[in-house]
Amino acid sequence: MENFETKVVTTDLLILGGGMAACGAAVEAAYWAKKNGLKVTMVDKAATDRSGAVAMGLSAINQYVGIKDGQNTLEDYVKYVRNDLMGVTREDLVASIARHVDSTVHLFEKWGLPIWKDKNGAYVHEGRWQLMINGESYKVVVAEAAKNALKAANGELYERVFIVGPLMDGDRVAGAYGFSVRKNEFYVFKAKAVLVAMGGAVHVFKPRSSGEGLGRAWYPPWNSGSSAYFTLAAGAEMTCQEVRFIPVRFKDAYGPVGAWFLLFKSRATNGLGENYMETRKNELEKWLPYGHVKPVPANLRNWLMMLDVMEGKGPIYMRTEEAIANLAKALPDPVEQKKKLKELEAEAWEDFLDMTISQALLWAATDVSPEAKPSEIAAAEPYFIGSHSGASGAWVSGPEDLQTSQTKGEYFWGYTNMSTVKGLFCAGDASGASSHKFSSGSHAEGRIAAKSAIKFIVENNTQPNVDMGLVEKLKAQTLAPVALFEAQSKKTTDASINPAYIRPKMYMFRLQKIMDEYAGGVTSQFKTSKALLQKGLELIALLKEDAKKLAAEDLHELMRAWENYHRTWQAEAHVRTILFREETRWPGYYFRADCPSMKDEWYCFANCKYNPATGEWTMLKRPIYKIVAD
Ligand code: FAD
Ligand code: ADX
Repeated sequence: MENFETKVVTTDLLILGGGMAACGAAVEAAYWAKKNGLKVTMVDKAATDRSGAVAMGLSAINQYVGIKDGQNTLEDYVKYVRNDLMGVTREDLVASIARHVDSTVHLFEKWGLPIWKDKNGAYVHEGRWQLMINGESYKVVVAEAAKNALKAANGELYERVFIVGPLMDGDRVAGAYGFSVRKNEFYVFKAKAVLVAMGGAVHVFKPRSSGEGLGRAWYPPWNSGSSAYFTLAAGAEMTCQEVRFIPVRFKDAYGPVGAWFLLFKSRATNGLGENYMETRKNELEKWLPYGHVKPVPANLRNWLMMLDVMEGKGPIYMRTEEAIANLAKALPDPVEQKKKLKELEAEAWEDFLDMTISQALLWAATDVSPEAKPSEIAAAEPYFIGSHSGASGAWVSGPEDLQTSQTKGEYFWGYTNMSTVKGLFCAGDASGASSHKFSSGSHAEGRIAAKSAIKFIVENNTQPNVDMGLVEKLKAQTLAPVALFEAQSKKTTDASINPAYIRPKMYMFRLQKIMDEYAGGVTSQFKTSKALLQKGLELIALLKEDAKKLAAEDLHELMRAWENYHRTWQAEAHVRTILFREETRWPGYYFRADCPSMKDEWYCFANCKYNPATGEWTMLKRPIYKIVAD
């Protein structure tokens, strides 16, 4: 431990993460920082060119409203998100992002991202809100713009530095601490404002993939709940911690389904050839008014499929062969038909090669020709991704101009996207109750939050105090897993089996087993109850005690140790909130077997807060106010 040098970096705005929201934040912050003579520092645990959920690339931009093109209105988007989340959404936040997202998409295009165009030069839509892209280099393009902007404003980027937790000065955030995953360096970042954008969380629940496939999940394994931990540990109020996301994906390699359902107009059918969206239509009546909206909310689409699976009617198939044949048949000329068929085959493969390469490999390995036979789809394990069709994240202030007389005291407290902690801003997966922002909306939200954070700094231009005595303790705590391994590992012949410690991988398996069996994971068919959740909480408390015994052989494993600690906090916030909300509102994401229907008294946000001084959790209800009329 003596070998770990402490590096102190002092800055004005500290951006944590290097994904879509952080890159948006960097571009905007650099512009305003330069005007105000301020410094911006960005910290990413990985290499920003290929970090975060967009690392592998994407095949579509999922949020484009097209306001100026006259395609949709802001109100249309707000209603879409409200309905898809079964009524639970912060409409001020959704509108704030939706009114700026198109300009972000135009920036992407200017920076070199190829967006599909038709022969008239118009964007090719996948669905109403989605644009098709050649997106294998999406993240590289977006990262380059962020790096250029930082450079032009004399800002700094630290790559491969893992952020562990917040530094506080009373009720104001004062910075962050972490360590390099390449060199023996402990980092202390002192800042006047901090913008959290470290993504969501995966591997909190046991994944379907095990053994040789372990690690394969829909959500990228490198986002491990750091945003949730950071904001909770700073004492920020959190929202929608119960709103996990379960995507239906091509089975085992998690290939996307959006292009098939929306662009190729495909159906999914069960093992008997039945379309569950038709045969199970009556079930939608139980979830009104949302059962009647179009499109059917994502969780209800999942639910109808799950009912078939639970009745033993699987496997579920995406009817790729039927969809391709139908699209080709629609052309009158046989030569054109043949050409179209080839085009569709290429597009089908490209959809995977753009963003889920392993699905293309699995197709190749299992002799699938999408034009010849259907492919299995399945519901994945739960993830935390507030920027997609989940909603978990921090409770943040909306913009002042979008408030109504009702919402002002509830949804607005001075700075857009600031959490309930002074100087602590959040964007992308880190901010909650503003789903369906996706890659483009997260970038736009990063820009909004950064502009607001710079305003905060200008108006509160003092460097908060950092207690360096406490920092020494945090350093020892951060590096403790390495010290424990060094002291104990030689005492057994196999360093993985040792009564003095637990290695991060084993710890993760234990967390995943608890969540899977008690909090409604894949094995329990996404069902849970009060009694199960209470037992789960008891086991999480024991697990947290053992977290003090995490051991790490090297820097890489030290990162794994802290990733799993962060996951544990995301897990606890989740379990506490599903327990608090005594209803089932999102069947298809999770089902409370003891409260199997939706209740009017739960038409509200379920928020939670951890008090770092006392170690107590508070659960609270917050009202839902519409800013767009029905
Ligand atoms: P991310 O972009 O994931 O960035 C998180 C960042 O935090 C990363 O840089 C990571 O390295 C960093 N980080 C994490 N922990 C730490 C730590 N402890 N210390 C320092 N840094 C840390 N959207 C679309 O528009 N179209 C699509 O087709 C599409 N497909 C998707 C497919 C998949 C498989 C997934 C998972 C998402 C998809 N999305 C899509 C959604 C989109 O990727 C996300 O909405 C977006 O990336 C969220 O941005 P973010 O900045 O919050 O998180
Ligand atoms: S992605 O994040 O991996 O790209 P996916 O391919 O499922 O997600 O979906 C892309 C977009 O299409 C998202 O905006 C999603 O909400 C939407 N979508 C997917 N399937 C459907 C469907 N059956 N009906 C309506 N919208 C859908």
